[in-house]
Amino acid sequence: MTGRASLPVSLADYERLAEARLSAEAWAYFAGGAADEITARWNRDAFDRTALLPRVLNGGPGGSTALTLFGRSFAHPILVAPVAYQKLADPAGECATAAAAEAQGAGMVLSTQASVTLEDAARAGATCRWFQLYVLPSRAATLSLVRRAEAAGYEVLVVTVDAPINGVRNREHRAGFTLPPGVAAENLRDLNTVDAASPAAAPLPDGASAIFDRFMAAAPTWKDLEWLISETKLPVVVKGILAPDDAVRAIGAGAAGVIVSNHGGRTLDTAVASLDALPAVAAAVSGRVPLLLDGGVRRGTDVLKALAFGASAVLVGRPIVHGLAVSGAFGVAHVLRLLRDEFEAAMALTGCRTLADIDRSRIWARP
Ligand code: FNR
Ligand code: LAC
Repeated sequence: MTGRASLPVSLADYERLAEARLSAEAWAYFAGGAADEITARWNRDAFDRTALLPRVLNGGPGGSTALTLFGRSFAHPILVAPVAYQKLADPAGECATAAAAEAQGAGMVLSTQASVTLEDAARAGATCRWFQLYVLPSRAATLSLVRRAEAAGYEVLVVTVDAPINGVRNREHRAGFTLPPGVAAENLRDLNTVDAASPAAAPLPDGASAIFDRFMAAAPTWKDLEWLISETKLPVVVKGILAPDDAVRAIGAGAAGVIVSNHGGRTLDTAVASLDALPAVAAAVSGRVPLLLDGGVRRGTDVLKALAFGASAVLVGRPIVHGLAVSGAFGVAHVLRLLRDEFEAAMALTGCRTLADIDRSRIWARP
């Protein structure tokens, strides 16, 4: 960077600088959503059209953003979302992100498709203790990932359920995105992720559908979620829920938490924005388990809005990669710090001293 004027002071600044740094292919992968990217846009619009109601004369000591989640205390409710293949943004990949997350006291979720091993990521950062799991067609392969995560000290499993098939990623298609040499899903490397017995292994007969006869035929069901929960003592958080009924069903299956998410608009285009889906999910869950939200969080005011509508914490995806691409661990740490500082400012100006004060009364409602 040259000159003061180009120093990033917001997450949007990091986005702009990251686009200039990354290859067109990597940018298409990170920035893209499914199809026309309408959901990705709606995720942002939902925050932007929600107005806050400032409250005044709320000075006094005792302010804090602290919270407890699954038995651990956190200084603030901003977590790093699982994002695959971070070596596309920086040679140290997820290890740099993990170091930055620890420096900022942010919980981090490591992707199944990380470009470093889950053991290396755990060593790189003490707050990288949530492991995101895809339920694989082979139960043995799924369990081997669970056991490795347990042995490496991960404390929460985040099971992503909204991507049984790839979204229609037109931006990636147009850019001709493929993984470059040196970037791979390191945790899946030694796993036979396709069981010989699974439908995904057989050649497709004429007239068969890849979606139905290959991917969906091998995709996980509610029974697989129950099975997974019965196999581990770790709390299992289900990521990628938008329907209130699915949230209730996940809790019935033993889920310890739910993440309201549309995968950053990367799976089903025109799926409802995360923030718009949140209130009904929160009403159905009614405080039985913690609810988290991701999708479009770019400002401290967004964090406050998500909490006002019933989330306990938020996760951020793309902005982390932007920080990583612009200046490695330092950039990730700065992104997290900016968001946290903005969140504190938003709390102060809406009269919230602690997270418990953040409720619907902070949202302006049209009379
Ligand atoms: C993701 N996301 C994701 N989710 C997951 O459960 N496992 C994964 O491996 C990935 N990989 C991934 C890669 C990239 C490039 C992106 C942008 C996203 C989804 C991610 O966890 C999160 O739901 C969204 O990124 C949140 O939206 P924002 O913050 O990016 O708007
Ligand atoms: C993605 C997958 C890895 O969104 O979840 O790219």
